[in-house]
Amino acid sequence: MGRLVRFGVSLEKELLNRFNGFIQGKGCANRSEAIRDLIRKELVKEEWLKNKEIAGAIILVYNHHKRELLDSLTDIQHDHHHLIISTQHIHLDHNNCLEIVAVKGKAREAQRLCDILKSTKGVKYAALTMATTGSRIP
Ligand code: NI
Repeated sequence: MGRLVRFGVSLEKELLNRFNGFIQGKGCANRSEAIRDLIRKELVKEEWLKNKEIAGAIILVYNHHKRELLDSLTDIQHDHHHLIISTQHIHLDHNNCLEIVAVKGKAREAQRLCDILKSTKGVKYAALTMATTGSRIP
């Protein structure tokens, strides 16, 4: 962590009361930590909106028995090899597979890859969780 600096904030009492309640609900250690968390969250969100490089994970659930689906998903992933850094395959049960596709690249490209995977017939669930590469967040 870098050097800590203090700064004052003025805000309406009602807003502060709401914020204090929010912090208690979240189990934050203290108000400073809660404000730091919020600032980091907004900086990460800005990375997504500005199409900066992000790291994240696409979660897929699909039917294992659809053979042509497995081929399609593999083809799509090969087409995006520059974006995919790792894939983990988990056999959920006799019929279903879960795949965690770790991605690193432009936010919009990661979202596009998730959309393509989601629109593939037989995919039951696809969602992208965007995080940060960490390089621009103190
Ligand atoms: Ni499987």
